[in-house]
Amino acid sequence: MKISIITSNPKMEEIERIKAEAQKAGHEASVVDFSNFHYSYVDGKVTFFPEIPETDMAIIRGMFSAMRSVEPLGQYLKSRGIKVFDNSILSHKYSINKVFDITKLIFSGIPVPDYYHARGYEALFAYAKTMKYPAIIKTAGTGKGAAIYMVKSVEEMNEALKLRQKENVKPRKIIIQNFIDYKYDLRVLVIGDKMYCMRRIPKTGDFRANFSLGGSVELFPITPEIEDLSRRAIKSIGLDIAGVDVLVDKNGRLSILEVNHTPGMIGMEEATGENITKIYLDYAISHAKILE
Ligand SMILES: Nc1ncnc2c1ncn2[C@@H]1O[C@H](COP(=O)(O)OP(=O)(O)O)[C@@H](O)[C@H]1O
Ligand SMILES: [Mg+2]
Repeated sequence: MKISIITSNPKMEEIERIKAEAQKAGHEASVVDFSNFHYSYVDGKVTFFPEIPETDMAIIRGMFSAMRSVEPLGQYLKSRGIKVFDNSILSHKYSINKVFDITKLIFSGIPVPDYYHARGYEALFAYAKTMKYPAIIKTAGTGKGAAIYMVKSVEEMNEALKLRQKENVKPRKIIIQNFIDYKYDLRVLVIGDKMYCMRRIPKTGDFRANFSLGGSVELFPITPEIEDLSRRAIKSIGLDIAGVDVLVDKNGRLSILEVNHTPGMIGMEEATGENITKIYLDYAISHAKILE
């Protein structure tokens, strides 16, 4: 089969891994760099740049800042009769929006850290006075541990908010939440029916346990409770492949931090010793569909 991997982040290690696994399985695989996307419609003909080669199936992955291009891309692939994975990418229209996802989690009854949302700074300053410290401040559209800060007092929170106000960050993109003094920071990777769980240990001096920030990982025995919660979390967002961040506090209570739409696989391969990329690829091949 001919497989095109369409991404705005061709340098991501996962993309190379997927390509390599596809080739190993006997497919023809190529990466289409979508970071500089444009198209024209002239004399009734759509011309796309970058050109999408003759292909049976497209894996759209890691579009991040190019999410808005996914709509025309999806329509174009449909017009050529090319199967696409993942289809949910079209219904979401975003790859990272923590605010959007937290709202879905909350209203699905999934435990998340106490959280404050506002459309104006006044309300955020008011919340800052009432909340517990230490607390966390982060912004909606980032990943891999970037732009996540711990503040130890209301004074520090006010400073952090003022800084964002000065930088014209929209208040509705700011997440302030309680800090969970976690015992374990877990990542649960869900690929269809399969589930993998690892513990992430932050680098010394950091509270953020992201693998991409150099944290270490180890296999963690998943419990039925973690399994059930992760399953409910991804269902509430409407994904079938996702990475769920689960915190376990000192009393064993669970909370969900976020659901990653494009979960990394390299860390999980390290923790489990399994070929997760191959499992992802097989799932993608068997679930790719011509868009409706
Ligand atoms: N409320 C919180 N309490 C404790 N740790 C947190 C909290 N929010 C974030 N962290 C730490 O920072 C890491 C990254 O935060 P997360 O919300 O998952 O954003 P990202 O998309 O950058 O991974 C988490 O895995 C966790 O280790
Ligand atoms: Mg995370």
